[in-house]
Amino acid sequence: MFKTIEWTSDGVRMIDQTRLPGEEVYRTCRNYQEVAEAIRSMVIRGAPAIGVAAAMGVALGIKNSSAQSIPELRSDFETIADVISKTRPTAVNLFWAIKRMRETFENALSEPGSETEKILRVRTCLVEEAQRVLAEDIAVNEAMGRHGAALLQDSSTVLTHCNAGALATGGYGTALGVIRAAVADGKRIGVFADETRPFLQGARLTAWELAKDGIPVTVITDNMAGHFMKESKIQAVIVGADRIASNGDVANKIGTYTVAVLARENHVPFYVAAPLSTIDLNIASGDEIPIEERSPSEVTHWRGILTVPENVNARHPAFDVTPHRYVTAIITERGVAREPYVETLKALFR
Ligand code: MRU
Repeated sequence: MFKTIEWTSDGVRMIDQTRLPGEEVYRTCRNYQEVAEAIRSMVIRGAPAIGVAAAMGVALGIKNSSAQSIPELRSDFETIADVISKTRPTAVNLFWAIKRMRETFENALSEPGSETEKILRVRTCLVEEAQRVLAEDIAVNEAMGRHGAALLQDSSTVLTHCNAGALATGGYGTALGVIRAAVADGKRIGVFADETRPFLQGARLTAWELAKDGIPVTVITDNMAGHFMKESKIQAVIVGADRIASNGDVANKIGTYTVAVLARENHVPFYVAAPLSTIDLNIASGDEIPIEERSPSEVTHWRGILTVPENVNARHPAFDVTPHRYVTAIITERGVAREPYVETLKALFR
């Protein structure tokens, strides 16, 4: 089994998701700037995986810091956190992970000891914490799988959009974790993977990891979902999320909203699987979620080849927001939430 991301003595090692499915190659980031660049260029992507990468990037930056005093170390921490926080705006897991690392940093400093001892302790604690973020993420996905598997019927076909699998997380996956858990329970589940233009996370990544696991997967282009729902070929939709507002509005890969509306029209349940680290109780609705606008060249080109006439305009919002009224249920590691999300999501944190 591949490892999406891991801490090594040389740095942060990750599978290069821009090269899949053609090549399974790994990249080791030796400083925090390289980690930030890997997040920005989507060598690593998917909300929980971005969170793990951010935590490891902070740990690596502080490990490499030459600070000799606590003020210097604090200033280095803020520089590292600032660079990493500017990589991608939508997935709240990135900010959640940086906050968690900041708390670890302050806790380690608050323990008694000389300045030198404290600096050493901060370094060790941050590396340990980043590894805990990874281990917890895998455990959380497995728990989500246990809660969500019951929602999927035997002999059903499930549509997913983008990649919310092992590649998008520390391992196992959110939406694909639920599918994996249902399959482990003995259910026969087939998956329709939306290709997911323009980055093709569905065609390249979801299909790759499901095929590796022997789970039957059929790739469809994004504009085929409605057709297959109308033909009763899809019994459920399950996707991940990049940020969920207090009212249950869900930001996820561009095209998710379209799928949710089609699901409602065709009476197909639309499930979202996401850990608590993806839920942002600080915002009231999806209107407050920053939507990343990526380079139009990712729409006009595929691996360097121009696929539209020269000099035409293109737009590339990387995410959209699905209003909570389309969301049948949100599967988390603490259980399954349903409307009214304003109450049920908050209750999960108690
Ligand atoms: O732009 P990406 O590939 O980082 O977008 C990823 C998604 O939208 C996923 O569906 C989401 O992060 C959930 S991953 C478990």
